[in-house]
Amino acid sequence: MERAKRRGLCRHIGVSNYPVEFMKEIDEYKTEPIYNEQQELHPLAQSRDVQDYARKAKVSLTGYGTGVVASAPLAKDIAHKINRTPGQVLLRWAVQKGIHVNPKSNQVSRLKENLEVLDFALDDEDMSALDGLDVPKIFYWNTSVLVPQASAAKEEL
Ligand SMILES: NC(=O)c1ccc[n+]([C@@H]2O[C@H](COP(=O)([O-])OP(=O)(O)OC[C@H]3O[C@@H](n4cnc5c(N)ncnc54)[C@H](OP(=O)(O)O)[C@@H]3O)[C@@H](O)[C@H]2O)c1
Repeated sequence: MERAKRRGLCRHIGVSNYPVEFMKEIDEYKTEPIYNEQQELHPLAQSRDVQDYARKAKVSLTGYGTGVVASAPLAKDIAHKINRTPGQVLLRWAVQKGIHVNPKSNQVSRLKENLEVLDFALDDEDMSALDGLDVPKIFYWNTSVLVPQASAAKEEL
């Protein structure tokens, strides 16, 4: 990837589903900055260790997977209260934390609602309540099948 960047074939280098251990490891040998880390990231799967590390290392974060937890009761309650959808509430939580999002849907109505998360804000109380949903679990898929260290990192939380 570094060779590709130096040859102008890509602008930035990113990694995906990297636990902190892997981010530390790559920091030891990289010669180009890591621009972005993409992983499952939403109120129910916050990976705060990755968030902390990325913030300090100036690596931007992209979160995926809000759609798979859109049925979370608290997201529904907040959505009902502020006249939004649960999906929007979950995406807005990430946006307010400076996390990039990349939702995907095959439904036009959801594509539209997923775009409309920049014209409202969650208040501190709702943000705190959503912060409290974090559980040491991966909802989207179990990366420990591919990366055993990832499950170890999660269990430490
Ligand atoms: N790096 C990685 O390992 C990794 C892993 C997974 C995904 N990704 C990337 O992340 C992006 C999103 O992935 P994804 O589509 O699987 O996850 P997602 O955006 O969380 O969507 C998951 C499912 O939730 C539904 N959904 C979407 N918006 C919704 C909403 N507002 N309310 C309720 N349900 C909603 C969609 O189903 P419907 O089509 O029925 O609406 C979708 O299939 C993609 O670009 C994907 O390539 C990367």
